[in-house]
Amino acid sequence: MSKAEIPIRDFPYLLHPYNATLVTCIGKDGKPNIIAIAWIIPVSINPPYLVMSIRPTRYSYKLIMETGEFVVNIPPHKLASEVIFCGRKSGRNYDKFKETGLTPMKARKVTPPIIAECIAHIECKVAKAIETGDHILIIGEVLTAYASKEYFEKHYKLEKYNPLLHIRGNLFTTTVNKIEEIKLK
Ligand SMILES: Cc1cc2nc3c(=O)[nH]c(=O)nc-3n(C[C@H](O)[C@H](O)[C@H](O)COP(=O)(O)O)c2cc1C
Repeated sequence: MSKAEIPIRDFPYLLHPYNATLVTCIGKDGKPNIIAIAWIIPVSINPPYLVMSIRPTRYSYKLIMETGEFVVNIPPHKLASEVIFCGRKSGRNYDKFKETGLTPMKARKVTPPIIAECIAHIECKVAKAIETGDHILIIGEVLTAYASKEYFEKHYKLEKYNPLLHIRGNLFTTTVNKIEEIKLK
């Protein structure tokens, strides 16, 4: 198998596709915002932590650090164009709830709203922010997490739910309806 060198700045795309999530946050002024985030992973179960990689230039970064809270909302594949809007336009210039028609709903434990059209929600408070290269790692402590029973019970029901998986740029994919249990040999 011959393997071609790729530009180093393209290395992240060898790890994609990742879930494209919609992260909600709110400023001190009470105005909510939505940012598309693909670089987000669980990093600890006890205590429950996830890590999100965000450029400090994002308006959402300022809002998250102001209130110390955010919600990770999981959109289904059919929200791809709303995700592109939230990932290409800044809350500095747009009210993204108004522009996308997504519906803000009260969260259970934090001030930023959840997005009603998403199928799962992970409410977090900022535990730590770590400077790395051109992104900041925000470690979020998970305060509560909930999902639509129609789409998730122990794991996603792929016959009902099409995840929105980000490949690169404006390219997305989803999964096929196939779940296999692999036995340890
Ligand atoms: C699918 C997708 C995934 C993205 N993932 C990230 C990410 O992981 N980290 C990040 O800092 N920006 C990411 N972005 C870019 C931000 O969403 C984008 O810059 C956004 O307009 C910032 O909005 P804000 O200024 O309102 O915070 C992503 C964009 C898209 C379309």
